[in-house]
Amino acid sequence: MYPTVPYYVPRSRPIGRYQHRTPVDIGWRLRWPFLFSTILGVAMILCILVIGALEVASLAQSTNKDVFGNTSATGAGIWCGVFLSIAAVLILLINYMPNVRLWAKIAFIATIVAVCFTIILIGLDAKAVQDGRGALPSSFEKPKILSAQLAFACIEFVLCLIFITIYLIVQAAVGRHIMTNTPWPYFTSGTIVHGFGRGSKELGCPTANFDEETVDKLPSSIDQGVYYGWAKLLTKRNNEIYKMVTSVGTNPFYNGEKKSMETHIIHEFPEDFYGETLKIVLLGEIRKMTTFNNAGELVAAIQNDISTAKERLDSDECRQYHNHSFFQQ
Ligand SMILES: Cc1cc2nc3c(=O)[nH]c(=O)nc-3n(C[C@H](O)[C@H](O)[C@H](O)COP(=O)(O)O)c2cc1C
Repeated sequence: MYPTVPYYVPRSRPIGRYQHRTPVDIGWRLRWPFLFSTILGVAMILCILVIGALEVASLAQSTNKDVFGNTSATGAGIWCGVFLSIAAVLILLINYMPNVRLWAKIAFIATIVAVCFTIILIGLDAKAVQDGRGALPSSFEKPKILSAQLAFACIEFVLCLIFITIYLIVQAAVGRHIMTNTPWPYFTSGTIVHGFGRGSKELGCPTANFDEETVDKLPSSIDQGVYYGWAKLLTKRNNEIYKMVTSVGTNPFYNGEKKSMETHIIHEFPEDFYGETLKIVLLGEIRKMTTFNNAGELVAAIQNDISTAKERLDSDECRQYHNHSFFQQ
């Protein structure tokens, strides 16, 4: 039910025992930036190898190796290749590392260092040829060598820029996914309105339905699912904070079309709360909302959700939200 996807949210963010893993249904939405950057990393390494090979071939063809030997032992392109390869490998690795953001930063710094080194080496190399240090080739060969060096420099510089641009786009996409797909903890409050009344009658599970405004505020990542967390009713009679389960979705079992957000507070109340305010914090997902063959199956699923919520909310990570300042305001 909770497969490991190739990235983990930093430990400070997740709540609950399983929240460092991404639920199965959003796996692919999360994976595409990683697949994309993996393909990018492989492509970059291939490009670098080809450019490096071309440079080596050009060095081998040179009639006077001293020029290159005296100025830059392996040529600026090789250095560029080495540093870009390191950056590309880091990009590949971060996809499978815990704490994506830290590794993304390291890979980014490595790329910047690679570019700076390349520019300095290319500059030194070109200047040395221009100044005529070392055993110089004939004046006829000098412009040829210089223009070949500059051509390589330009190709590598453009490659560096393309690499950094694509890298930044990928990382921005990854960052957005992290932000939008790990909304925990999600704090919200709203007015309790009337639902269809099936909850307590047919399912034996009374629910407090949030008003439309509160439902509309939900981020896209909290959709068609069953979630767990804490709830507090703002009434004069009761100031307790209770465990709860919240369902978000169109209730496909009832062929519903409108998205609703319904909270079942795990406590027995003798009265209804229509018109009162309910504050909740959602700490994680239990499962996706689905349809069932009969009401009995839905009831069993709901009971299972309640047991799961009770168990997860007993963890220390979840307990810390029981007395969160959000509930004191
Ligand atoms: C914990 C929990 C899980 C639920 N899971 C589903 C579900 O998987 N599929 C579904 O159609 N409805 C699900 N529901 C929503 C119920 O269908 C809904 O609460 C019921 O229709 C009562 O709605 P009402 O308050 O508008 O009468 C769930 C409700 C709760 C409290």
